[in-house]
Amino acid sequence: MVGPRTSGFWRWMVLVVIATTASVTGQGDQNGLFVVAQSSAEEDPGFNVTSSYILVNNQKTVIGQNSSPFGRGHQVFILNEQNGQVLDKMVFDTDPDGGGAEAAQRLLDYLKIVQEGRIIIVVVHDNGNTLVNLSPYGSTITTTALGFRVSYAMITQKGPKPSWFVEKRSAAGTGPTRIDASIPPAILNTVAQSSAEEDPGFNVTSSYILVNNQKTVIGQNSSPFGRGHQVFILNEQNGQVLDKMVFDTDPDGGGAEAAQRLLDYLKIVQEGRIIIVVVHDNGNTLVNLSPYGSTITTTALGFRQSYAMITQKGPKPSWFVEKRSAARTGPTRIDASIPTVPTTSAAAVGTSVGVARIMALMFVTAVLVWY
Ligand SMILES: *[C@@H]1O[C@H](CO)[C@@H](O)[C@H](O)[C@H]1NC(C)=O
Ligand SMILES: *[C@@H]1O[C@H](CO)[C@@H](O)[C@H](O)[C@H]1NC(C)=O
Repeated sequence: MVGPRTSGFWRWMVLVVIATTASVTGQGDQNGLFVVAQSSAEEDPGFNVTSSYILVNNQKTVIGQNSSPFGRGHQVFILNEQNGQVLDKMVFDTDPDGGGAEAAQRLLDYLKIVQEGRIIIVVVHDNGNTLVNLSPYGSTITTTALGFRVSYAMITQKGPKPSWFVEKRSAAGTGPTRIDASIPPAILNTVAQSSAEEDPGFNVTSSYILVNNQKTVIGQNSSPFGRGHQVFILNEQNGQVLDKMVFDTDPDGGGAEAAQRLLDYLKIVQEGRIIIVVVHDNGNTLVNLSPYGSTITTTALGFRQSYAMITQKGPKPSWFVEKRSAARTGPTRIDASIPTVPTTSAAAVGTSVGVARIMALMFVTAVLVWY
């Protein structure tokens, strides 16, 4: 009688764990990650076998004694950039009395095979005063060996150096070294609103974009009341608004000349950039945006029609979106979920979250059938 009940309990526990993992997976995409890394060297106050660690959204991971005496040397943690899951952790005993230069080389070999986009955290524990040059990962501190019992921590990403890169070293006995990074969601949630005169709620700032809920408007800037085609250029890695311009494509304003300036402007935008266009107030001059994926704008928009498009410089993205509304029926509002990691397709990003949820669901079904 005791036996079956015990096994049922454990099946239930596994189910709870899977369901929790699924919900954590979903959360990472929305809010981004807050990562803390602590490096603690011998002689630092509070030093012990687990005083070097990482926190991902407050969840601690340590290496502990694992494979190196007392976890000594360079500890490396690899995180999934979408959900913060710790995919792997390794320690390399870079104490000269331990693995020394050989361990340093193994560490560099290990980092080479890490997938593009992954978050990489390095913390030195106890002592790691062998040269480990982490400059390919953004470091400017580690071009020479750390000193004896110097603490050091770095948070970075495989691929281009991220805007949130951070590293720090502290002299022996003055650690632990603690750093943190707020890592934006790996998905940019973009919204574009185009509002034409006569649309309900029309005013000087009723056309705008939202990137992860942060609003950017053009306002009156250079065109009367921001009239015409407003263009926003976003960094495709972090959603930063790099530039914004308005072209007064009202025939009583800049007309065809403004339309041509807009097209010239888009031509020099760097490959990969996110381009958002919203028509504000009125923009009924032909601006053919078909080189950017549009199928609507091969003829001029009508008088006081609203129109919005979210696209990318280069090949038409899977998340491309555009929409037009008749006069007085706007504002036109569209959105796109844009993955920031080039190696991961839009479909795959959705799938990783979806798969975890489907697995949890399948498990529930299996458990129900089992009983
Ligand atoms: C070791 O240090 C960590 C953090 O600095 C602390 O949380 C933990 O309680 C300490 N462990 C022991 C066994 O003292
Ligand atoms: C203009 O419209 C926007 C959005 O539609 C709104 O948030 C804002 O408060 C309005 N401004 C004024 C001055 O009414």
